[in-house]
Amino acid sequence: MGHWTLDNIPWDRFDRSKLDPDVVRIVKAASLVEYNGGAYAHHLCRIFHDDPDFQQTARRWGEEEIQHGRALAQWAKLADPGYDFAVAFTRFQAKYQVDFDCDSSRRGSRSGEMIARCMVEVGTSSYYSALRDGVHEPVLKEICRNIAADEIRHYRLFYKNLTLCLANERISFWRRLRVGFGRIAEARDDELACAYYAANEADAPYDQRRHSRAYERRAFAFYREAHVRHIVAMAFKAVGLSPHGRLARAASRLAWNAMRYRVTRLTKAAA
Ligand SMILES: [Fe+2]
Ligand SMILES: [Fe+2]
Repeated sequence: MGHWTLDNIPWDRFDRSKLDPDVVRIVKAASLVEYNGGAYAHHLCRIFHDDPDFQQTARRWGEEEIQHGRALAQWAKLADPGYDFAVAFTRFQAKYQVDFDCDSSRRGSRSGEMIARCMVEVGTSSYYSALRDGVHEPVLKEICRNIAADEIRHYRLFYKNLTLCLANERISFWRRLRVGFGRIAEARDDELACAYYAANEADAPYDQRRHSRAYERRAFAFYREAHVRHIVAMAFKAVGLSPHGRLARAASRLAWNAMRYRVTRLTKAAA
């Protein structure tokens, strides 16, 4: 397990005057996605059926993701006492279904699976770092600080296993690139939109585009240039590119400008 539990969170420092309703909405969505991590741990154990050491690591990882979900749900309940996490999670599971009960990775290899997991941790570590730096409510700040540290550690453990997998599997640079950046593109798929819907807008019909944009507009607003640099460096490293070279710097500037443009457009569209 990580180095913290829900008992280490200073819940008594919760400050309602520093709440931002948009933050409450995205935290509720994040609580559902994180809590679903246990199902993915089961999938990893099946893919690595002959590797008890990694299975143990994957189970521990899954428990930590579930703890992230619990911490965020408990904070969301403080912020909005009407939030029913159990009901929202059931709604999320009914809407968002992925077949985790299979023995092989849909990334085509164990290395591909590890690259995809690295990319997810790149996304979560930068997201919670951005929230940690941007939110004003002190308890949420502390939760995000703990989660961001866990997510970076998760990236490292998947990266370490990736290097072990690559020693046994032949996987081309282009394949690594395709799997890695394909997984980043998937971040805009159903999962976050479904979670946003299930946590916040279950009375209305589900609209993937609308709910995805509603989530992105609120979440992307917290990113600063340093967070985007961190995303690019870690993503480049996972696909075998230099994390701090000229290409990484150029990609980072491009990604930062694209993200700012996207937030501005979504904010204007919502006004
Ligand atoms: Fe997490
Ligand atoms: Fe994680």
